[in-house]
This record gives sequence, structure tokens and C-alpha cells, in this order.
Amino acid sequence: MTDRADDGEQTRDDRRAEAIEVLEANRRDGYTVPSETLYPFQWNWDSAFIAVGLAGVDPAAAAREVETLLSATWPNGLLPQIVFWADAEGYFPGPDEWDAGFDDVETSGISQPPVVATAARRVYETTGDDDFRDRVLDPLDRHLSWWRRERSTDGVVYTRHPWETGMDDSPAWRLPLERFDPGDVAYERADRKSAELADQRPTDWDYDRYVALLRQGREAEWDESVLRGTCPFRVEDVLTNSVYVRACEDLAALYASAGEDASAERWREQAEETREGMRERLWSDDLGLFVSYDRVTDEQLLEPTVAGLVPVFGGVPTAAQFERLHETLTTDFFAFEYAAPSYVGDDFAPDRYWRGPVWMNTNWLLERGLRRYDATDAADRVRADSLALCDREGFREYFNPRSGAGRGSDDFAWSAALYLAWTGESQR
Ligand code: DGY
Repeated sequence: MTDRADDGEQTRDDRRAEAIEVLEANRRDGYTVPSETLYPFQWNWDSAFIAVGLAGVDPAAAAREVETLLSATWPNGLLPQIVFWADAEGYFPGPDEWDAGFDDVETSGISQPPVVATAARRVYETTGDDDFRDRVLDPLDRHLSWWRRERSTDGVVYTRHPWETGMDDSPAWRLPLERFDPGDVAYERADRKSAELADQRPTDWDYDRYVALLRQGREAEWDESVLRGTCPFRVEDVLTNSVYVRACEDLAALYASAGEDASAERWREQAEETREGMRERLWSDDLGLFVSYDRVTDEQLLEPTVAGLVPVFGGVPTAAQFERLHETLTTDFFAFEYAAPSYVGDDFAPDRYWRGPVWMNTNWLLERGLRRYDATDAADRVRADSLALCDREGFREYFNPRSGAGRGSDDFAWSAALYLAWTGESQR
């Protein structure tokens, strides 16, 4: 008879094998789709999280994932949220709707939080492959420079579509989205593939605005200098900025390892400039966490979302801010069976997309950041809850923080990948 610890190990090994199977099934030519049913193309931050997990089990595939994504960097430096490398059925909005990209590369017209730099650093540190490092330096530099040049005046970057933040229907976007009238937008959604999913995906009210913003960008031929003045959604998203700070640090580390000290220093300074801006403009003492900031109305978007805790990933909070943030985390976000819900405010909806469910990617950003602040107990709880959810329900897209029930897509690639990252030897 095996004892309980052995049973636990056995379950974990089985789950790791299943995670590898999910990633292999979702793999296409040089990249991995987030979900065969819901998201059948390459997604920007999904691929980065996937590469983080793959680095420990199949570093060559991880390197390819990163390089395939970076090969879609636009001439101006935008790294698109979606790359349509191959045709696939059942997704709206597809390449014709976006009408964006360059040469033969069809993409969406927006970006996503640049986790790719962190993924590239992890691949490099796992493989020690200097050629890989030397190949990714230029596209990473062009992309992070694009955020600074096109999307920021003082180092804090703004997003111009909720899809760009990755947290599509976060309650934090309600005010900026309420302010504008999408008009009559005709389109057909493709994401409600079952009655259950219809209750979990963003509402039509949100979708009307997503599509209207998309069409406005397309009208402007995705010209940032036009959209900077006309786009009604211009939000300094706290998660994107946290990831950006970390990306600048990670690019600096890659430059330093290549002996390019001046470039390394430049990106360390950029990280610090963005940190300082965030501390000033995105910190809410009332809520005890960071918040996003509306550039159109010049006001904070005061909603308690998990994004407001993620600045720890970039080493943003001062000691005093961290003390408050830690209290908010343990009081409000740990008050559930499973940490950490995506949102804990008045409109909490435990089964709806980014309005309450737990997601593996935000948990990973949070857990990594908490370790940076030596908050070991809190980090251990986030990791243990994440693994328990996947052990119970499989690699679902998101999870109800009260019951633990899996929601959204199944066989979701970043859930599988981050499970591998958390249970890999170097992560223990
Ligand atoms: C979707 O289609 O729901 C995606 O979240 C957009 O990135």
C-alpha cells in the first residue's frame, strides 16, 4: 500500500504527463494555440506563458514558441495580440475583420502585456543558448521601445482596447466603456459554443464596445498617432504596466549577459521610470492596492482586481505599499476557498470570465512577485491553490474561487504550461 504522500506524487506525475499531452495536442507549426475550440490561432501572452512552462520540459519547443511570436512583430514594433498563421474555423473576429499586419503576416491590430520578454529570458537561462539570445534581443528591443514611444509620455504605458489588457471584461473597464456609444454594430459572435459558456463569456454590452473599438482602429488604419487623439478607451492598465516593468528588467538582463552594458543600463532605467510613475499615479491608498488609470478623464479606475496586486511581479510597490497590499491580499483575496479571484468588488461574479474566477496566469505573476518580496506563505498559498484546482478539474481556462469548479475552455494551454512550471524541479 502506498502512503498519502506517494499518492500525491503519483497524481502530480500523471497530471504533468497530461499537461504535456495538452500542449502537444494544441501545437501547430512552431506555436501553440491556447484552445483548439475557442482560440485557434497564436495569441501573444498565451504563447509567452506557454514558453515559460515548456522551457523546463522541451526547451527547443519553448524557444520556437517565442521566436515564432516575435517574427510577427510589425515594422513599427507592435507585437500583435493574435497572429493568424493558418486558417481556422469558428473564431470571431478573424483576419478579415481586423485587416491588420504586414507583408503576408495577418494579425489583429492591438498588442498584449509583454510577458514575452520574461519568457525569452527564462528560455535563455534554461538553455544557455547564446544564439537564441542574440536573435531575440532586437525584436524584444523594438517591441518594448514601441510601448514607450507610441503608448506613453512619461513611462507609464496605455492600452487602447480591453482585449489588449488580456482581462477583457474586467469591471475596471466599465466606466471608460460606458462613456462611449458604440452605435449600431452588426456582427455575429462565435464564442458562445454552449449554454454554459454563454453565461461565462463577456456580455453583449461588452462585445458591442469591443467590436466598435476594433472597427475604429481599422478605420484609422491602426495609426497610433491618430488613435492617440481619437480612441475613447485609453487606459493605463496596471497589469500591462507591471509586466512591462518586468519585461524591461528581463531585457536588461539579456543585454547584460551579452556584454551590452549600455543597453542593459538603458532598460534598467526604463523599468525604474515606469515603476516611479506607477507608484505615483496607480496606487490607491483607500483600496490598499494598485489600480488602472483612465487617460481620457484623468482619474483612477477604483476597482479591486487581481491586476492591482500584480505590480509585485515588477518590484513596483515600496515597502509601505507592499505592507498594505499584502494585507489586502490576505484579507480580501484569500477569503475564498481558492486564491486569487480576478475581482472581489461589488459586481463579483464567480463564474464569469474576468469578473471573479481564478486564472492560472495571474496567479503565476502574483506568486512570482510575492517571492520577490519574501512573502513566502502567501506565495505558497497561491501556488498550492493553483495546483489543487488543476488536480481537481484538469487544465480549465478559469475556475470558480468558491467551489473550485472548472470553467471556460478545457485543455487550455497556459493552465497546462504553468502547472509544469510550478511542479518542475527548479520551481519547487
Ligand atoms: C477573445 O476572443 O475572447 C479573446 O479574449 C480576445 O483576446
